Amino acid sequence: MVAGVNGGLPLDGQVVVITGAGSGIGRAMLDAFRTAGAAVLAADVSADRLAELASLDKVETVVTDVTIATDLDAMIDRAVAVWGRIDVLCNNAGRPDAFRGVEDCTDEEWELGLALHLTAAFLASRQAIPHMLAAGHGVILNTVSTAGLTGNNGGASYTASKHGLIGLTRSTAAMYGVDGIRAVAICPGAVDTDATEIMKRRRQSGEVSERFLTARDRTFKAFTRRAQPAEFGALAVYLAMGGADLLNGAVLPANSGYSAH
Ligand SMILES: NC(=O)c1ccc[n+]([C@@H]2O[C@H](COP(=O)([O-])OP(=O)(O)OC[C@H]3O[C@@H](n4cnc5c(N)ncnc54)[C@H](O)[C@@H]3O)[C@@H](O)[C@H]2O)c1
Repeated sequence: MVAGVNGGLPLDGQVVVITGAGSGIGRAMLDAFRTAGAAVLAADVSADRLAELASLDKVETVVTDVTIATDLDAMIDRAVAVWGRIDVLCNNAGRPDAFRGVEDCTDEEWELGLALHLTAAFLASRQAIPHMLAAGHGVILNTVSTAGLTGNNGGASYTASKHGLIGLTRSTAAMYGVDGIRAVAICPGAVDTDATEIMKRRRQSGEVSERFLTARDRTFKAFTRRAQPAEFGALAVYLAMGGADLLNGAVLPANSGYSAH
């Protein structure tokens, strides 16, 4: 762990809000930010998962469905009410779609993907940015996916919503960088979390379309290894630190070289 100013922890005194904090990458971010000295507001739709976090020091939990605008407003307001500030917002909650191409994608699947991955990040950022502007600094980390960079790592809904999230990241970076607010898109490849189990079950049940599997086979061989959630915790802490000031609007493929192929 890198020492912060005066030899303290690097993110001592900072406040981080994480959506989807109950599992996988979000949970690993929570652990890493706490280790770095920050206080964390853990938001998740699963009250059971949050209950496991409630006793942790410097952690507050708030049941939040990120597809509900009022939940997101309440989430940001809660962080400010408890700690009086918000330094880092991690828009991380998400789930795989059913890997359907455009012709099979239902209205519900399309709209859920956009709500979960794109509109949620927009609404949470909109609620958080005034506090960051007032403080003169802030970092917004959007968990995208390799599906935000390619056409065959998810279905139409997941892919389009994650591409949109990169656009939102760049817009935020371009508009607010001058005010000391940075936005970065983190694009994992395959990470061992509950989400990968959902994908596996969908493949095994035959739910994933042949069209998707054929398209994916053409490039899948370039995946070198699956990542562990903790690797994204360490990355998120680094991106939130002062030393990462140059990284504004960056879109970071974190997929073991897949994007290089
Ligand atoms: N696991 C991977 O291979 C992988 C790859 C690329 C990108 N991602 C992205 O990483 C992010 C985290 O995924 P993960 O792999 O850690 O999954 P995960 O299933 O382990 O964790 C996701 C968390 O989000 C929560 N969640 C789901 N819907 C929600 C909602 N409507 N409101 C609030 N919380 C909600 C779940 O309860 C869960 O705790 C997602 O945005 C996902 O798209 C994951």
